[in-house]
Amino acid sequence: MSKMWKFGPALPPLDVLPNADVPDWKQAKPGAIAQALGRARERPHGNWYVADASRAFGEKPRHYRIAGEDIVAWRADGEVIMAPDACPHMGARLAGSRVRDGKLICPWHGLALGKGGHGGWKPLAVHDDGVLTWVRIRASEAA
Ligand code: FES
Repeated sequence: MSKMWKFGPALPPLDVLPNADVPDWKQAKPGAIAQALGRARERPHGNWYVADASRAFGEKPRHYRIAGEDIVAWRADGEVIMAPDACPHMGARLAGSRVRDGKLICPWHGLALGKGGHGGWKPLAVHDDGVLTWVRIRASEAA
């Protein structure tokens, strides 16, 4: 006779049984969804754009093109940093650069660039809501 394992108290009954009368994709109304999307697009967004899923960002810098801007993004000390993907000196691409102490190292002459910025090169405003990471592009033009 095999031994029975007990893993804890019994689970409570499910509130939703399979095949119960709950909304699913069959009740979706594409016309209503399209209207809601249209209304959302007409609202001012302050030039905030979704960059990627929050979990997509790691310590290795990555390139994004958002609203026509080339952006480099990486994570330092747990925080997502997004900035122009061109160094402030000669415009070297930074997305393929090394990271040291949370700062990108310009591949051309080694300047360290971090969240403090350097001259006109400044990180962009970023908001990580835990699911998506948002970035604000050309904030001065935002309505
Ligand atoms: S060439 Fe990139 S910082 Fe100087």
